[in-house]
Amino acid sequence: MAHISVTVDGTVYEDEVEPRLLLVHYLRDRLGLTGTPIGCDTSNCGTCTVELDGASVKSCTVLAVQADGGVVTTVQGLAKDGEWTDLQRAFHERHALQCGYCTPGMIMAARDLLRENPRPGPDEVRKALEGNLCRCTGYQNIVRAVLAVAEGKAASGERTSAQEVTA
Ligand code: FES
Ligand code: FES
Repeated sequence: MAHISVTVDGTVYEDEVEPRLLLVHYLRDRLGLTGTPIGCDTSNCGTCTVELDGASVKSCTVLAVQADGGVVTTVQGLAKDGEWTDLQRAFHERHALQCGYCTPGMIMAARDLLRENPRPGPDEVRKALEGNLCRCTGYQNIVRAVLAVAEGKAASGERTSAQEVTA
């Protein structure tokens, strides 16, 4: 067993873990943070995306021991005092989800994009989210939601240049 100390969504956890334990299993099974889903066993779907030390990672490709000393943010750590972030609000307002299974990963990946490129164009959004699969939405409204945040129109319902995005 290995000792780890990791901050997750603002709380410090000290734990003994098996060296082979994946971060996603640590989050879900040990910490009970089931807001980060598992959607595949091939590292393809991106549903398990979290932030580790400021960069988005697929938590099924990272060992819990690799997060030792690190800071992890999951989708459950985004809202503060019950207030959604702009991205969460935009996904809701712009109908960027149906079943919602991909949504945590989409939001975490989009957050990473907007941190690095606050004004992406539609193609840049698509490129940034290409590692995240959605079986329901056809992606259009997901791209629109991210662009709405980039244009500062997350929850206004106002038309954005994203309205022009086509398949
Ligand atoms: Fe599919 Fe991690 S669960 S990429
Ligand atoms: Fe169902 Fe994306 S909303 S997988």
